[in-house]
Amino acid sequence: MKGIVVYKSKYGASKKYAEWISEATGFSCVSVKEADTNKLAEYDTIIVGGGVYASGMACVPFLRKNIDRLKGKKIIVYTCAASPYDKKFADALIDMNLKDELKGIPVFYCRGAFDMKNMSFADRTLCKMLRKAVAKKDPKDWELWESALMECKEDESCDWTDKKYIEPIVKAALE
Ligand SMILES: Cc1cc2nc3c(=O)[nH]c(=O)nc-3n(C[C@H](O)[C@H](O)[C@H](O)COP(=O)(O)O)c2cc1C
Repeated sequence: MKGIVVYKSKYGASKKYAEWISEATGFSCVSVKEADTNKLAEYDTIIVGGGVYASGMACVPFLRKNIDRLKGKKIIVYTCAASPYDKKFADALIDMNLKDELKGIPVFYCRGAFDMKNMSFADRTLCKMLRKAVAKKDPKDWELWESALMECKEDESCDWTDKKYIEPIVKAALE
C-alpha cells in the first residue's frame, strides 16, 4: 500500500503531525505547496491535514481542488486547532468546513500550538483584538477556542501537540 501525507501548516503544528504520521506509516510527506497533484494517482491512501484559522480548516481548498483525483482512494483528514478536543466543537467544525462532495470523509482532531511571539503581524493583531473582546466576556461564556486563546499569554508560546493524537490516524491509514 502506497500512501502520502499532504499538509498545510502556517506555524508548524500540522507539519509536526504530518512528520509523525509519516514516520509511523512509512508514507511520504509533503506540504500542499510541494505536492505534485498529477502524481496523486500513484497513491492508495492520501492523508490531508492542516491548521484551523478563524474556524476555517486550511486543508479544505486542497481537498476541494483535487477531489476528482482522489476518487476511489482512501482519504483521511486531520485538523489541528488550539482548542482542547471536544466532540461538539469538532463536529461543528467539520460540518462547517466539509460540505457537498467532501461530506463523510473521516476527520481526526489533533491539538495544535499557539505561538503569539512568532505569529505574522496580521495574525498577532487579529489575536490581540480577539483577546480584548474575549476578556470582556464572562469566562463561563467563553468558547473552547477562546479559553485556549486566553490561556496562552500575549508573549507566550503554548504547545499542546501530542503524539497520542496520531494513533487513530495511523490505525485508520493502515487497516
Ligand atoms: C489567526 C489565527 C486564528 C485561529 N483560529 C482558531 C480557531 O478558530 N479555532 C481554534 O481552535 N484554533 C484557532 N487558531 C489556532 C491554530 O489552529 C493553531 O495555532 C494550530 O496549531 C495552527 O496550525 P499550524 O501550527 O499547523 O499552523 C488560530 C490561530 C491563528 C494564528
